[in-house]
Amino acid sequence: MKSIVLTGFMGTGKTAVGKTLAHKLGCAFIDVDAEIEKEQKTTITNIFKEHGELKFREIESEMIKKLSEIENAVISTGGGAVLRQENMDNLRKNGVIVCLMASPETILKRICNNNDRPLLQVEDPLQKIKGLLEFRKPYYEKADIMIDTNGKNPIEVAEKIIEKAKEIIKKR
Ligand code: S3P
Repeated sequence: MKSIVLTGFMGTGKTAVGKTLAHKLGCAFIDVDAEIEKEQKTTITNIFKEHGELKFREIESEMIKKLSEIENAVISTGGGAVLRQENMDNLRKNGVIVCLMASPETILKRICNNNDRPLLQVEDPLQKIKGLLEFRKPYYEKADIMIDTNGKNPIEVAEKIIEKAKEIIKKR
């Protein structure tokens, strides 16, 4: 089986859905950000603070290149991974790319209790979410499958992904 790659904005449920999906498929769940933190022995927040976003994007691209070789896994990417075409090309080689979507209000509700998203540590996070979503929309839309997660639980989203991914794999 090809890997299933989850993309989408912060708070669209990539981790929760990814774990559920991997469990249903009986395969490994790999989180790109968690792998970066393990390799760099520090948090994403610290990488942003000490080295800036550009350096984080370089580390992220290297990690994606490495993880893209893996088959039979559910791979969850950070919300900004779609911004580099190089990442999309690597991920597509071995995987079906799924994008999870949610409204800015849903995203804010899902992430408001933690401060581990450096890009959203601003005075008006809702405004920031809206701006970033608008800018990133064409990048997210490069996915093979788009799934609206508003009002859905991880099991429902995982089932929808399996249904749609099967159709895509059959056609390839
Ligand atoms: C980012 C999303 C984060 C993390 C970093 C940057 C982004 O991952 O990679 O803070 O640019 O959207 P999650 O989408 O898993 O929160």
